Amino acid sequence: MSEKNQFSEELAAFYEASHDYGDIGDESFYLNAATSTDGPVLEGACGTGRLYLELLRQGVDADGFDVSPEMLEILREKAATEDVTPTVWQADLRSIGASRTYSLALVPYNSFCNLREVDDQLAALKAFHDVLAPGGRLLFDVYVPRYDVIAEAVGEWQEIQEVEYKGTLLRGRSKATIANQVEQTYRAEQELLDTDGDVVARDEFVLSHLPPQQVDLLARQSAFKQWSVWGGFNREPLTDGDSVQVWELVK
Ligand SMILES: C[S@@+](CC[C@H](N)C(=O)[O-])C[C@H]1O[C@@H](n2cnc3c(N)ncnc32)[C@H](O)[C@@H]1O
Repeated sequence: MSEKNQFSEELAAFYEASHDYGDIGDESFYLNAATSTDGPVLEGACGTGRLYLELLRQGVDADGFDVSPEMLEILREKAATEDVTPTVWQADLRSIGASRTYSLALVPYNSFCNLREVDDQLAALKAFHDVLAPGGRLLFDVYVPRYDVIAEAVGEWQEIQEVEYKGTLLRGRSKATIANQVEQTYRAEQELLDTDGDVVARDEFVLSHLPPQQVDLLARQSAFKQWSVWGGFNREPLTDGDSVQVWELVK
């Protein structure tokens, strides 16, 4: 198994602040799938609960897990301010450790890209297959690795936004560089800077591109019975120019 990508407390807070702006295009897709499913739902890599808490608000019987205690802490703090009770735990996509089976499992927002090696990716598919009831579905989305987007973004710091953390205003920025040309992995660096320009927090993740042919091969190697892919959250076919691949694997 390759190493895990882990958020620091500061960068977890920054993730929450920079993603706390509602629907990024996937919300109604995952919510509709969850509310139209009979039986419990599991969100893998649920992070700070952007979608997971919405599932609870909609009355879905949902559990969640994430590898990062810092992200889960923020999720729990948010839940404590509302009338919802989360059932979340710390676990890896490759070894879920659930105590019940699910009708539907979700892994939104590129989280599968944290799995760098084929063995990791297959282990995650097996882990989800194991926790799904017969006929259960795994839904996840990953970006389409597009040459134009990669060429434009690689190596340049991208300013994200300012966020207040423990009373101090911090500026976030991110940069992608090639981690391993042969393995097709890249390094996503994130930094938080104070008003003097000093770096106060820094995280580095190694992520993997997952072109559709590779996901298709993974599905073929898995125990899932059937699978399909769409080129967006409206379930239109995946075609050239699309930027997201949305996969459904059925047990
Ligand atoms: C892009 S965020 C998505 C969070 C949430 N699903 C959302 O849509 O906002 C990716 C999440 O994957 C988690 N993660 C990374 N590697 C993981 C692993 N191996 N197992 C479980 N979670 C992982 C990170 O901690 C982070 O919370």
